[in-house]
Amino acid sequence: MQPKLIIHSGAGSSLGEKGGVELVRNSLHKILEKLYKLLVDDQSALDVVVRGCQLLEDDPIFNAGTGSVLQSDGQIRMSASLMDGLNHRFSGAINVSRIKNPIDLAKALQSSPDRVLSDHGAAELVRELQLPVYNSLTDKRLNEWQQERQQNFSKSMANIIAESPGSGTIGVVALDKEGRLAAGTSTGGKGFEKIGRVSDSAMPAGNYATGSAAVSCTGIGEDIIDECLAAKIVIRVTDGFSIKAAFERSFAEAHKHNRDLGAIAIDANGIIAWGKTSDVILAAFHDGKEIGDSLEAAKGTFIFTAE
Ligand code: GLY
Repeated sequence: MQPKLIIHSGAGSSLGEKGGVELVRNSLHKILEKLYKLLVDDQSALDVVVRGCQLLEDDPIFNAGTGSVLQSDGQIRMSASLMDGLNHRFSGAINVSRIKNPIDLAKALQSSPDRVLSDHGAAELVRELQLPVYNSLTDKRLNEWQQERQQNFSKSMANIIAESPGSGTIGVVALDKEGRLAAGTSTGGKGFEKIGRVSDSAMPAGNYATGSAAVSCTGIGEDIIDECLAAKIVIRVTDGFSIKAAFERSFAEAHKHNRDLGAIAIDANGIIAWGKTSDVILAAFHDGKEIGDSLEAAKGTFIFTAE
């Protein structure tokens, strides 16, 4: 099969800062090119999704891994998940700290009988895997938190999404030469949230795959959970909807409920899709012939599909 690939780095109100579009585009396109080569070189969708999440986590302009936002107590807690469409298997780590790539925990948990671990359990897994201690904090995130602290945390969340170039949950969806699908999602959360708040990114609501379709979501976690968006789209496709119809139905529902979210997907026929109710979703895709992206798509609800 012709491999297909789509990645995202968040969704939200606008790429407000001057130069924001080009900064995000350069980063996404560079990562996309690297990952697509891996698919052409016969790597599995699952391995490419893990590598893609690592590269996006390592870019400090995105809110995952290095550059994650701080929570209300000034700590970073990250969450990530991985779903293998071939084996129909989900794994994830919730609210983990002091690790460079949270997706590595989700990968390690794919073969574990206990496949989703949170804070203490996830920290114990980091120790068992002997992963080096890593500080994901950047000056920009610390400054944002200090400013909010002075204003007594009047914002409900950090500038995490598209408002500045330094923002956004990340996700990768891939279809490999063998027709296998996989999805991965990783986040620093909303920023300024209560200790213990759990993101959609390590739930099937935010990241889901079967042999029929794979989806990664971005946006406000609570909105994604309420819509159960990733699982809903995938199950609709698995039950016989086209990916286009599944996106149209699911985004009409999300729009009706005033949700702020976006999703990327690929189906088993190689159709790539993305959709949003937010003004912007930062997504880029490779269809085997060319690279495309969503950075300057029309504001508001929008759905894109292409073979
Ligand atoms: N979608 C990421 C979060 O809300 O945590």
